[in-house]
Amino acid sequence: MESFRLTQKEMIRLAEKYPTPFVVISLTQIERNYAILKEHLPRVNVYYAMKANPAPRIVKTLYRLGASFDTASAGEIEFLSRLGIEGARVIYANPVKTPRSIAIANTLGVRKYTYDDMSEIEKLARLAPGADVMVRIRVKNQKALVDLNAKFGAPPEEAIELLKAAKKAGLNPAGICFHVGSQSTAAEAYEEALLLTRKLFNDAEKCGMHLTMLDIGGGFPIPKVGSRDADVAEMMDSIEHQIERLFPDTEIWCEPGRFICGTAVNLVTSVIGTKTRNGKKWYWLDEGLYGTFSGAIYDHWTFDFESFKPGIKEPVTFLGPSCDSIDFVRYDVMMPNLEMGDLVLVPDCGSYTTASATTFNGFPLATQIYFEDEEVAAERRARENISEIFEAARTA
Ligand SMILES: Cc1ncc(COP(=O)(O)O)c(C=O)c1O
Repeated sequence: MESFRLTQKEMIRLAEKYPTPFVVISLTQIERNYAILKEHLPRVNVYYAMKANPAPRIVKTLYRLGASFDTASAGEIEFLSRLGIEGARVIYANPVKTPRSIAIANTLGVRKYTYDDMSEIEKLARLAPGADVMVRIRVKNQKALVDLNAKFGAPPEEAIELLKAAKKAGLNPAGICFHVGSQSTAAEAYEEALLLTRKLFNDAEKCGMHLTMLDIGGGFPIPKVGSRDADVAEMMDSIEHQIERLFPDTEIWCEPGRFICGTAVNLVTSVIGTKTRNGKKWYWLDEGLYGTFSGAIYDHWTFDFESFKPGIKEPVTFLGPSCDSIDFVRYDVMMPNLEMGDLVLVPDCGSYTTASATTFNGFPLATQIYFEDEEVAAERRARENISEIFEAARTA
């Protein structure tokens, strides 16, 4: 799977214009990632999990392409509403919601909600009467970077009782949802969850409830440092095959976050301090764990670094700028000798990064720019056109 990546020249040109740290978002890559999903999961409607990266132009691009949105709070739903995105294109997929946020969602036209416990039913029935509700079930997956099933998901054996209770309360028991965990490298986890869900659909039918919706969550992976890349296209093809076999007539959704935005963003940061400690080089960057690298904590992510400098590489430590001793960004990164002011590029940092960044210690958030707005993008397009012309001439 191809990622968006700045060249050295592009990075330097942009750093002449913008002070570091800044992140460069490629909307073309967002479109490309969306197209991959649609190509390999044609039956599946995409609800973008905007928690991964709510940059307004990412959201608007996806809306234009036909995506809907998975939201976690009334704040996200209000944000979408301000962009002109209607509640009908939204699912409120946080299993435990505040009463106030359900009321706001209902006012803004949201009709689809998830839940995983009896305690949620009264709130939903009172504040979003008649809404479509889906039970989130707990599923197993050893091969996910982030386990979402420790906190969320009803035991599958409770699903039917939960659906029945929702029906009794005047809600529409519409379906089942699951999330196999984020950055999942196993298609089998989806396949097992689909088999389990098929059984629950059959059980519901026997109880007089015809379920019409299935939400297979997110979890699709992107390339990751130090791990063998999962063949995501192959993984999606096998999920699609199972869906066709098990759910020929059901409306299916997925809720991808990372897969849509993870590979579409590069961070450019500078070396602002150098030290030697225990014989090892330490490089202070102007971005740290409280900023774009917050994903190293919350998302368990290992970031990749590129300096473009020649020279012998050795293991170094990167640290962030805050006056806090937790702010070690990554240890043992193979790097050539760096100097004050050197630029460092961090690819594939579009998901769970800027979204969870803070201004702790008074450091501003990294500036967000869009690649397509920049001259370097026009130059890249021109270069690509020329090589296409040469290629066409060569093969003619
Ligand atoms: C309910 C729900 N849906 C979708 C996602 C997105 O998952 P991913 O980024 O792995 O695709 C998450 C991530 O936390 C989630 O909680």
